[in-house]
Amino acid sequence: MNTRMKGRDFLSTNDWTTEELEMLLDVAFDLKKQKALGIRHHLLEDKTLFMLFKDKSTRTRNSTEAAMTQLGGHAHYLTEEAVQISHGDTEKEMGIILSRYGHGIAIRDDIYLGVGHKYMTSIAKYADIPVISLESDFDHPCQMMADIMTIKEKFHNEVRGRKFVMSWAYAPSYAKPLACAQGSIMVMPRFGMDVTLAMPPEFSLQPEALGIARQNAQAAGVKFEVTNDMDAALEGADIVEAKSWGCFMTTRDLKESQDIAKKYTSWIMDQRRMELASNSAIYMHPLPADREYEVTNAVIDGPHSVVYDEAENRLHTVKAILALTM
Ligand code: CP
Repeated sequence: MNTRMKGRDFLSTNDWTTEELEMLLDVAFDLKKQKALGIRHHLLEDKTLFMLFKDKSTRTRNSTEAAMTQLGGHAHYLTEEAVQISHGDTEKEMGIILSRYGHGIAIRDDIYLGVGHKYMTSIAKYADIPVISLESDFDHPCQMMADIMTIKEKFHNEVRGRKFVMSWAYAPSYAKPLACAQGSIMVMPRFGMDVTLAMPPEFSLQPEALGIARQNAQAAGVKFEVTNDMDAALEGADIVEAKSWGCFMTTRDLKESQDIAKKYTSWIMDQRRMELASNSAIYMHPLPADREYEVTNAVIDGPHSVVYDEAENRLHTVKAILALTM
């Protein structure tokens, strides 16, 4: 097993082998236990992480910042307005100069399709410290590791053969990124899950992500199915994630995307739909959720929901990512 991850970037789960991701999860479980026992784990003493956020965040910012504190280091919270990007600091300046000051760079850049993953990849080319994605337009690898940790916990590590359903759901708030849906369909097959993707026709995902999902399912000997029927997808599901995303393959106009979404207000995860899944099914959502639109309160606050454990696991998994790479 390769345990030498110092200096490695983490821009997508596709960057790491499944064995490396399993090792990362082992470290996360270990750090979770250490925190529960009050054992100090200052693995990054005196180290600095630069966190550049080009979008809002509750979980990602606070779990990553808390992770650095609990690992004995420090995180700088940076926004686009706080640094000189608009005055000429290119990816080259950001990558080289931040590398001279600290030990890691973490970036959220998820709003515009075709922008964020490219930006992070470009910074990583110039940086000689690890660059970690805190969500791009393409993937949300830190969320993916927290989701897999949660699935392992809830199913006592018996993950192989489980049916994972990623379904689109209606949300009036805004055209949400594709990252969680794409990240899930790409990574869940690698952990032995059969994956079903359900969405209205206009809400398809990027062909690259669909292609990787198909390849990963084939390599793992599991199923990857795509349907436009939410109810059919949910039949017998073990893990249900129903959340919204914008129809970026149909239009890049965020308002038009929301107008198209209004045709599908019936795509809500409610009690009737939860009953289509298996009795022991779990409901996941990376949050924030549009309550009573994407999911009813009865489901998100009900017995199948694991959303708060999922959110907590953001802390333990990002600690593992930082401790291994920085
Ligand atoms: N799940 C997630 O990434 O949440 P935030 O947008 O609040 O960081």
